[in-house]
Amino acid sequence: MSRVTTLLPAAEDGAIPIRCVDAAGWPAVAAELPPLAAAFARAAGFEAKPGRVALLPGPDGALAGVLFGVDAAGTDPFAVGRLPEALPEGTYRLEGLPGDPALAALAWRLSGYRFGRYRERPAPKARLVVPAGVDAAEIDRIADAVASGRDLVNTPANDLGPAEIEAAARALAARFGAACTVIAGEALEQGFPLIAAVGRASPRAPRLIDLTWGDPGAPRVTLVGKGVVFDTGGLDLKPAAAMLLMKKDMAGAAVALAAAEMAMGAGLNIRLRVLIPTVENAVAGEAFRPGDVLRSRRGLTVEIGNTDAEGRLILADALSLADEEAPDLVIDFATLTGAARVALGPDLPALFTEDDGLAAQLTATGLAVHDPVWRMPLWAPYGSLLDSKVADLNNVSSGPFAGAVTAALFLRRFVSAAAAHVHLDLYGWNPATKPGRPEGGEVQTARLVYALLKARYAA
Ligand code: BES
Ligand code: MN
Ligand code: ZN
Repeated sequence: MSRVTTLLPAAEDGAIPIRCVDAAGWPAVAAELPPLAAAFARAAGFEAKPGRVALLPGPDGALAGVLFGVDAAGTDPFAVGRLPEALPEGTYRLEGLPGDPALAALAWRLSGYRFGRYRERPAPKARLVVPAGVDAAEIDRIADAVASGRDLVNTPANDLGPAEIEAAARALAARFGAACTVIAGEALEQGFPLIAAVGRASPRAPRLIDLTWGDPGAPRVTLVGKGVVFDTGGLDLKPAAAMLLMKKDMAGAAVALAAAEMAMGAGLNIRLRVLIPTVENAVAGEAFRPGDVLRSRRGLTVEIGNTDAEGRLILADALSLADEEAPDLVIDFATLTGAARVALGPDLPALFTEDDGLAAQLTATGLAVHDPVWRMPLWAPYGSLLDSKVADLNNVSSGPFAGAVTAALFLRRFVSAAAAHVHLDLYGWNPATKPGRPEGGEVQTARLVYALLKARYAA
């Protein structure tokens, strides 16, 4: 993916104006246009409806301007993301834009992302002069971090195993002077038995990545990301249709790394820690089995009801480690359950936390930065659905109900000392292209968490 920005920080002479226009304003705009341009727009069938684009000729036949239909209320802050693809190479500026100009500039860049690892996929070349007052460098940092995360999610498992996620984390650490240690082998077996068990069937060794950055005396924020590089389901094998997209089962790890890249790039006043348990949930003779009982890092014994509920197992041991230093805030990111998608669909990650203030702040921030989440309940009475006859708890509920809630309740059992814990169950994928959101891997909630941390801990 090209990290060449299409944003220009300062006003440039000769930038082609993109005139944003809604239905009510269109007659007045048309009256102001040179008659030839207005006639051409009408002849081309332009209507001032959201998303419509018309190129306007100058007297010499050159491109003199662009009409862009908008919704006056600015309902979709990423609507501008349609433009780069629709416009020829050139330098443009926005006029009369409703809504947040920073989000519009961000959408411009995010829509230009292409996953080009295996085939050339040229990105649109239209450049935008950022609207006045918008920090182009900050938007570039955010967009670059999103692109890095999307690349990780899009890279198939044959080229992205636990070692490659480790390499990505080490590269990020090196860039920002962070420390990065990795626990594998015997130390993983001893200290993180659930991670070791889930990863045992793969020839690509499981590991726990531990990155730390920032002032040790600053508020402690720990991000934990599910890094299952491929989820076959294990011995409880997924059917083909359910397995097809499971290269994205490390999206939680990609989100944690992307959010960390934004936070470190902005120099936030936190002691940041990123924990990534990364494994391949494979099938082999050594695979962990249904009915196995495993003793977790925390000491709780877990009966395996289903090897396909592997994410919560590896997160449990990583969350236990996070919790041991009683941090101020722990946020975990995971493609954890199909049930969360049934409840909220692919575009709306589920948020779980017992902290009402934090839930409200996250929900509002998500709407403000167009990276939404929706709260679901940690309904304690459902905790008994995880009861086991032989162990402290089972990794799944035996019934079909409230699967995202029981998964969240399972994770809760491994966090007690942290001042606050947030669990985000996300899809990590755009099923179809929308403005600013090209089809493919997506680091949902990375920008949201960065915005939350910035609001709480700005440098
Ligand atoms: N990675 C899947 C969850 C998933 C599936 C996320 C599809 C996004 C899209 C997870 O490891 C899983 O398999 N969960 C099971 C849990 C069940 C066995 C209790 C699920 O959701 O079916
Ligand atoms: Mn699974
Ligand atoms: Zn999984």
